[in-house]
Amino acid sequence: MQNLTATTVPQHVAIIMDGNGRWANARGLPRTMGHRKGVETVRAAVKTAGELGIRYLTLFAFSSENWSRPAAEVSDLMGLLKTFIRRDLADLHRENVRIRVIGDRSNLRGDILPLLVEAEETTRANTGITLVIAFNYGARDEMTRAMRRLAADVAEGRLRPEDITPERIAATLDTSGIPDPDLIIRTSGEERLSNFLLWQGAYSELIFVPELWPDFTRETFLAALEKYACRERRFGGVTEPTLAVGS
Ligand code: IPE
Ligand code: IPE
Ligand code: MG
Repeated sequence: MQNLTATTVPQHVAIIMDGNGRWANARGLPRTMGHRKGVETVRAAVKTAGELGIRYLTLFAFSSENWSRPAAEVSDLMGLLKTFIRRDLADLHRENVRIRVIGDRSNLRGDILPLLVEAEETTRANTGITLVIAFNYGARDEMTRAMRRLAADVAEGRLRPEDITPERIAATLDTSGIPDPDLIIRTSGEERLSNFLLWQGAYSELIFVPELWPDFTRETFLAALEKYACRERRFGGVTEPTLAVGS
């Protein structure tokens, strides 16, 4: 951990938790077992992130495109979220974790929505790490919903087109008030964003690790953070050459 200091630990890390199915397949188990094991990794990752002083951890749990999976798997993933909130909410609250949920809430099962709202309400005043759960989330869907809201405001005369600024758009997205991710990690060796945080990730550093999500350990996490600490972020600008001592 020699490269990690308070100044190099990212404020916001987002993770595309991928590879549960392949983890299970490799063991001759049903995909469900991979998702179950993945929940244990979630617990450990939240703990590690909190210990390191990361302020926001966003986890991609279910995408707006994941509805195209077999009904049994979708149902299992819904059930796992439910169990996670039920079992872990008290612990997370005790650990001062604040929970936010991003994604479309309009077509969620009736037994899931109240749990998500409860998790957010219960932990609203907590001051520790913010755990952002991306559930039924897709960036294009998020942006479409935001654009519709802005268009409605313009149509009803509450907003002028020239008042639609990048800041206004950001404030209309599900992630309103959450800083952009400094680092996006994807597990399982796939190197794509799969519709995750397309607006917010404009200048995020991307790190792809080969480990499948159930195999994502504290060491894997720390190694990714060390790699991030060595990256040079420019945001379109230039970096001044370091002046020699005494010059
Ligand atoms: C990630 O693992 C979990 C979700 C997408 C919900 P996958 O289920 O995508 O696992 P692979 O990619 O098929 O191995
Ligand atoms: C992205 O993984 C979604 C989540 C991790 C929840 P997928 O496994 O759904 O992405 P693709 O289909 O490989 O792009
Ligand atoms: Mg996958």
